[in-house]
Amino acid sequence: MNDQQAQSPLAGRRAVVTGASSGIGRATARALSAAGASVHLVARREDRLRELAEELGPGTTCAAADVRDAAAVAEVFADQAFDLVVANAGLGRGVAPLHEGDTDDWADMIDTNVKGVLHTARAALPALRAAGRGDLVVLGSVAGRQVYPGGNVYNASKHAVRAIYEALRLDEFGSGVRFTTVDPGLVETEFSLVRLGDQEAADRVYDGMTPLTPEDVADAICYAVTRPPHVNIGEIVLWPTEQASTRDVHRSGH
Ligand SMILES: NC(=O)c1ccc[n+]([C@@H]2O[C@H](COP(=O)([O-])OP(=O)(O)OC[C@H]3O[C@@H](n4cnc5c(N)ncnc54)[C@H](OP(=O)(O)O)[C@@H]3O)[C@@H](O)[C@H]2O)c1
Repeated sequence: MNDQQAQSPLAGRRAVVTGASSGIGRATARALSAAGASVHLVARREDRLRELAEELGPGTTCAAADVRDAAAVAEVFADQAFDLVVANAGLGRGVAPLHEGDTDDWADMIDTNVKGVLHTARAALPALRAAGRGDLVVLGSVAGRQVYPGGNVYNASKHAVRAIYEALRLDEFGSGVRFTTVDPGLVETEFSLVRLGDQEAADRVYDGMTPLTPEDVADAICYAVTRPPHVNIGEIVLWPTEQASTRDVHRSGH
Protein backbone atom coordinates (compact mmCIF):
# COMPACT_ATOMS: atom_id res chain seq x y z
CA MET A 1 0.00 0.00 0.00
CA ASN A 2 1.43 3.38 -0.93
CA ASP A 3 1.25 6.44 1.32
CA GLN A 4 -1.75 7.93 -0.41
CA GLN A 5 -3.75 4.68 -0.18
CA ALA A 6 -2.82 4.37 3.49
CA GLN A 7 -4.21 7.84 4.06
CA SER A 8 -7.34 7.08 2.02
CA PRO A 9 -8.65 3.81 3.44
CA LEU A 10 -12.03 4.37 1.76
CA ALA A 11 -10.68 5.22 -1.70
CA GLY A 12 -13.00 3.77 -4.35
CA ARG A 13 -15.93 3.42 -1.95
CA ARG A 14 -19.28 5.07 -2.81
CA ALA A 15 -21.14 6.09 0.35
CA VAL A 16 -24.60 7.43 1.10
CA VAL A 17 -25.40 9.20 4.37
CA THR A 18 -29.00 9.96 5.35
CA GLY A 19 -29.53 12.92 7.65
CA ALA A 20 -26.40 14.56 6.27
CA SER A 21 -27.70 18.13 6.72
CA SER A 22 -26.82 18.31 10.43
CA GLY A 23 -25.09 16.79 13.43
CA ILE A 24 -23.80 13.22 13.25
CA GLY A 25 -24.71 12.75 9.58
CA ARG A 26 -22.88 15.89 8.49
CA ALA A 27 -19.78 14.96 10.54
CA THR A 28 -19.90 11.41 9.14
CA ALA A 29 -20.10 12.67 5.56
CA ARG A 30 -17.06 14.86 6.22
CA ALA A 31 -15.13 11.97 7.81
CA LEU A 32 -15.95 9.45 5.07
CA SER A 33 -15.00 11.98 2.44
CA ALA A 34 -11.71 12.75 4.21
CA ALA A 35 -11.02 8.99 4.27
CA GLY A 36 -11.37 8.86 0.48
CA ALA A 37 -15.00 7.82 -0.12
CA SER A 38 -17.21 9.69 -2.56
CA VAL A 39 -20.33 10.61 -0.66
CA HIS A 40 -23.99 11.11 -1.60
CA LEU A 41 -25.77 13.36 0.91
CA VAL A 42 -29.46 12.87 1.72
CA ALA A 43 -31.85 14.86 3.94
CA ARG A 44 -34.85 17.16 3.46
CA ARG A 45 -33.02 20.54 3.67
CA GLU A 46 -31.46 20.69 0.24
CA ASP A 47 -29.79 24.09 0.76
CA ARG A 48 -27.67 22.63 3.57
CA LEU A 49 -26.80 19.57 1.48
CA ARG A 50 -25.65 21.74 -1.40
CA GLU A 51 -23.46 23.79 0.92
CA LEU A 52 -21.83 20.65 2.33
CA ALA A 53 -21.40 19.13 -1.15
CA GLU A 54 -19.58 22.28 -2.20
CA GLU A 55 -17.35 22.11 0.89
CA LEU A 56 -16.47 18.44 0.27
CA GLY A 57 -15.80 18.99 -3.42
CA PRO A 58 -15.63 16.67 -6.43
CA GLY A 59 -17.25 13.28 -5.96
CA THR A 60 -19.82 14.59 -3.50
CA THR A 61 -23.43 14.65 -4.67
CA CYS A 62 -26.72 15.29 -2.92
CA ALA A 63 -30.45 14.71 -3.17
CA ALA A 64 -33.33 15.97 -1.07
CA ALA A 65 -35.44 13.07 0.17
CA ASP A 66 -37.68 12.31 3.10
CA VAL A 67 -36.81 8.87 4.55
CA ARG A 68 -40.44 8.44 5.67
CA ASP A 69 -41.35 8.12 1.99
CA ALA A 70 -40.44 4.65 0.67
CA ALA A 71 -40.67 5.72 -2.98
CA ALA A 72 -38.40 8.73 -2.42
CA VAL A 73 -35.79 6.53 -0.74
CA ALA A 74 -36.03 3.94 -3.52
CA GLU A 75 -35.36 6.73 -6.02
CA VAL A 76 -32.15 7.72 -4.19
CA PHE A 77 -30.85 4.18 -4.70
CA ALA A 78 -32.36 3.61 -8.16
CA ASP A 79 -29.44 4.66 -10.35
CA GLN A 80 -26.49 4.21 -8.01
CA ALA A 81 -24.83 1.24 -6.34
CA PHE A 82 -23.57 2.32 -2.95
CA ASP A 83 -21.24 0.04 -1.01
CA LEU A 84 -21.28 2.06 2.23
CA VAL A 85 -24.64 3.07 3.62
CA VAL A 86 -25.16 5.09 6.81
CA ALA A 87 -28.83 5.11 7.88
CA ASN A 88 -28.55 8.02 10.28
CA ALA A 89 -31.63 10.23 9.71
CA GLY A 90 -33.69 10.32 12.88
CA LEU A 91 -35.32 12.48 15.51
CA GLY A 92 -37.00 12.71 18.88
CA ARG A 93 -40.24 14.61 19.41
CA GLY A 94 -41.24 15.56 22.94
CA VAL A 95 -40.60 14.07 26.38
CA ALA A 96 -44.20 13.79 27.63
CA PRO A 97 -45.35 10.74 29.58
CA LEU A 98 -47.17 8.26 27.38
CA HIS A 99 -50.71 9.26 28.41
CA GLU A 100 -50.00 12.85 27.35
CA GLY A 101 -48.13 11.95 24.17
CA ASP A 102 -48.96 13.65 20.89
CA THR A 103 -49.87 11.01 18.31
CA ASP A 104 -48.44 13.15 15.48
CA ASP A 105 -45.10 13.14 17.32
CA TRP A 106 -45.32 9.36 17.68
CA ALA A 107 -45.97 8.96 13.95
CA ASP A 108 -43.03 11.25 13.13
CA MET A 109 -40.61 9.24 15.31
CA ILE A 110 -41.82 5.83 14.18
CA ASP A 111 -41.99 6.80 10.50
CA THR A 112 -38.54 8.45 10.53
CA ASN A 113 -36.54 6.29 12.94
CA VAL A 114 -38.06 2.88 12.20
CA LYS A 115 -39.59 3.00 8.73
CA GLY A 116 -36.83 5.31 7.50
CA VAL A 117 -34.19 2.72 8.41
CA LEU A 118 -36.32 -0.04 6.87
CA HIS A 119 -36.81 1.93 3.64
CA THR A 120 -33.07 2.65 3.46
CA ALA A 121 -32.01 -0.95 4.13
CA ARG A 122 -34.52 -2.35 1.65
CA ALA A 123 -33.39 0.03 -1.09
CA ALA A 124 -29.68 -0.46 -0.36
CA LEU A 125 -29.51 -4.23 -0.04
CA PRO A 126 -29.88 -5.44 -3.64
CA ALA A 127 -26.67 -3.65 -4.70
CA LEU A 128 -24.80 -4.66 -1.55
CA ARG A 129 -25.86 -8.29 -2.00
CA ALA A 130 -24.94 -8.24 -5.68
CA ALA A 131 -21.48 -6.90 -4.82
CA GLY A 132 -21.09 -9.50 -2.08
CA ARG A 133 -19.56 -6.89 0.20
CA GLY A 134 -20.12 -3.47 1.71
CA ASP A 135 -21.37 -1.88 4.90
CA LEU A 136 -24.74 -0.88 6.26
CA VAL A 137 -24.42 1.22 9.41
CA VAL A 138 -27.51 2.18 11.41
CA LEU A 139 -27.68 4.90 14.05
CA GLY A 140 -29.21 3.38 17.13
CA SER A 141 -28.82 4.97 20.54
CA VAL A 142 -28.30 4.08 24.17
CA ALA A 143 -32.04 4.86 24.19
CA GLY A 144 -32.38 1.55 22.32
CA ARG A 145 -30.76 -0.24 25.25
CA GLN A 146 -32.17 1.56 28.30
CA VAL A 147 -35.48 3.42 28.62
CA TYR A 148 -35.91 6.63 30.63
CA PRO A 149 -38.87 8.70 31.84
CA GLY A 150 -40.55 10.53 28.96
CA GLY A 151 -38.55 8.48 26.44
CA ASN A 152 -41.35 6.00 25.71
CA VAL A 153 -41.89 6.18 21.92
CA TYR A 154 -38.37 7.40 21.09
CA ASN A 155 -37.04 4.50 23.21
CA ALA A 156 -39.35 2.10 21.36
CA SER A 157 -38.16 3.39 17.99
CA LYS A 158 -34.49 2.90 18.89
CA HIS A 159 -35.16 -0.56 20.38
CA ALA A 160 -36.71 -1.30 16.98
CA VAL A 161 -33.57 -0.10 15.21
CA ARG A 162 -31.56 -2.55 17.29
CA ALA A 163 -33.97 -5.37 16.39
CA ILE A 164 -33.69 -4.44 12.70
CA TYR A 165 -29.88 -4.54 12.95
CA GLU A 166 -30.02 -8.00 14.56
CA ALA A 167 -32.54 -9.23 11.98
CA LEU A 168 -30.39 -7.98 9.10
CA ARG A 169 -27.41 -9.94 10.41
CA LEU A 170 -29.50 -13.14 10.25
CA ASP A 171 -31.38 -12.47 7.01
CA GLU A 172 -28.25 -11.46 5.12
CA PHE A 173 -25.92 -14.02 6.72
CA GLY A 174 -23.54 -15.33 4.07
CA SER A 175 -24.01 -12.33 1.75
CA GLY A 176 -20.63 -10.79 2.61
CA VAL A 177 -22.30 -7.56 3.74
CA ARG A 178 -21.33 -6.17 7.16
CA PHE A 179 -23.87 -4.64 9.54
CA THR A 180 -23.08 -2.21 12.34
CA THR A 181 -25.18 -0.38 14.89
CA VAL A 182 -23.60 2.71 16.43
CA ASP A 183 -25.33 3.61 19.70
CA PRO A 184 -24.28 6.91 21.29
CA GLY A 185 -25.28 8.56 24.54
CA LEU A 186 -25.62 12.37 24.66
CA VAL A 187 -24.23 14.04 21.54
CA GLU A 188 -24.52 17.82 21.15
CA THR A 189 -26.30 18.39 17.81
CA GLU A 190 -29.62 19.90 16.76
CA PHE A 191 -31.31 16.77 18.17
CA SER A 192 -32.43 18.38 21.47
CA LEU A 193 -33.65 21.54 19.73
CA VAL A 194 -35.77 19.41 17.38
CA ARG A 195 -37.04 17.32 20.29
CA LEU A 196 -37.79 20.10 22.79
CA GLY A 197 -38.57 22.93 20.39
CA ASP A 198 -36.64 25.71 22.18
CA GLN A 199 -32.95 26.52 22.40
CA GLU A 200 -32.83 27.18 26.16
CA ALA A 201 -34.34 23.80 26.96
CA ALA A 202 -31.99 22.18 24.45
CA ASP A 203 -28.95 23.83 26.05
CA ARG A 204 -30.01 22.55 29.51
CA VAL A 205 -29.65 18.94 28.28
CA TYR A 206 -25.87 19.45 28.06
CA ASP A 207 -25.58 21.87 30.97
CA GLY A 208 -22.49 21.35 33.17
CA MET A 209 -21.31 18.21 31.39
CA THR A 210 -19.18 17.41 28.36
CA PRO A 211 -21.27 15.59 25.74
CA LEU A 212 -19.95 13.63 22.78
CA THR A 213 -19.38 15.63 19.62
CA PRO A 214 -20.76 14.57 16.23
CA GLU A 215 -17.13 14.06 15.20
CA ASP A 216 -16.66 11.48 18.00
CA VAL A 217 -19.51 9.43 16.54
CA ALA A 218 -18.26 9.89 12.96
CA ASP A 219 -14.88 8.61 14.10
CA ALA A 220 -16.49 5.43 15.49
CA ILE A 221 -18.35 4.90 12.20
CA CYS A 222 -15.12 5.34 10.23
CA TYR A 223 -13.36 2.86 12.51
CA ALA A 224 -16.03 0.22 11.83
CA VAL A 225 -16.03 0.59 8.05
CA THR A 226 -12.25 0.68 7.67
CA ARG A 227 -11.60 -2.74 9.28
CA PRO A 228 -10.37 -5.57 7.02
CA PRO A 229 -13.20 -7.35 5.12
CA HIS A 230 -13.26 -10.38 7.45
CA VAL A 231 -13.90 -8.16 10.52
CA ASN A 232 -17.44 -6.92 11.24
CA ILE A 233 -17.63 -4.45 14.10
CA GLY A 234 -21.23 -5.22 15.06
CA GLU A 235 -22.13 -2.89 17.90
CA ILE A 236 -20.48 0.29 19.12
CA VAL A 237 -21.81 1.96 22.28
CA LEU A 238 -20.25 5.36 23.01
CA TRP A 239 -20.94 7.23 26.22
CA PRO A 240 -19.71 10.64 27.29
CA THR A 241 -17.39 9.96 30.23
CA GLU A 242 -19.82 11.96 32.37
CA GLN A 243 -22.83 9.80 31.48
CA ALA A 244 -23.21 6.43 33.24
CA SER A 245 -26.70 5.55 32.00
CA THR A 246 -29.58 7.23 30.19
CA ARG A 247 -30.62 8.57 33.63
CA ASP A 248 -27.23 9.30 35.26
CA VAL A 249 -25.34 12.36 34.06
CA HIS A 250 -22.52 13.83 36.15
CA ARG A 251 -22.77 17.62 35.81
CA SER A 252 -19.38 18.63 37.11
CA GLY A 253 -19.80 22.10 35.68
CA HIS A 254 -16.56 22.34 33.74
N1 LIG B 1 -27.81 13.67 19.51
C1 LIG B 1 -27.86 12.63 20.33
O1 LIG B 1 -27.70 12.76 21.56
C2 LIG B 1 -28.10 11.24 19.76
C3 LIG B 1 -27.82 10.16 20.58
C4 LIG B 1 -28.03 8.87 20.09
C5 LIG B 1 -28.49 8.70 18.81
N2 LIG B 1 -28.77 9.77 18.02
C6 LIG B 1 -29.28 9.52 16.67
O2 LIG B 1 -28.37 10.06 15.73
C7 LIG B 1 -29.04 10.33 14.50
C8 LIG B 1 -28.66 11.74 14.03
O3 LIG B 1 -29.13 12.69 14.97
P1 LIG B 1 -28.35 14.03 15.34
O4 LIG B 1 -28.07 13.98 16.78
O5 LIG B 1 -27.24 14.26 14.39
O6 LIG B 1 -29.54 15.10 15.15
P2 LIG B 1 -29.70 16.35 14.14
O7 LIG B 1 -28.54 17.26 14.25
O8 LIG B 1 -31.06 16.90 14.43
O9 LIG B 1 -29.69 15.65 12.70
C9 LIG B 1 -30.76 14.83 12.28
C10 LIG B 1 -30.65 14.62 10.78
O10 LIG B 1 -31.72 13.74 10.36
C11 LIG B 1 -32.36 14.34 9.23
N3 LIG B 1 -33.75 13.94 9.15
C12 LIG B 1 -34.70 14.03 10.11
N4 LIG B 1 -35.88 13.61 9.63
C13 LIG B 1 -35.66 13.25 8.34
C14 LIG B 1 -36.50 12.74 7.31
N5 LIG B 1 -37.80 12.50 7.51
N6 LIG B 1 -35.95 12.48 6.10
C15 LIG B 1 -34.63 12.71 5.88
N7 LIG B 1 -33.80 13.17 6.82
C16 LIG B 1 -34.31 13.45 8.02
C17 LIG B 1 -32.21 15.83 9.44
O11 LIG B 1 -32.24 16.51 8.17
P3 LIG B 1 -33.46 17.36 7.58
O12 LIG B 1 -34.19 17.98 8.75
O13 LIG B 1 -32.77 18.34 6.69
O14 LIG B 1 -34.29 16.37 6.84
C18 LIG B 1 -30.79 15.91 10.00
O15 LIG B 1 -29.85 15.91 8.95
C19 LIG B 1 -30.53 10.14 14.79
O16 LIG B 1 -30.93 8.86 14.32
C20 LIG B 1 -30.60 10.19 16.32
O17 LIG B 1 -31.72 9.48 16.82
C21 LIG B 1 -28.57 11.05 18.47
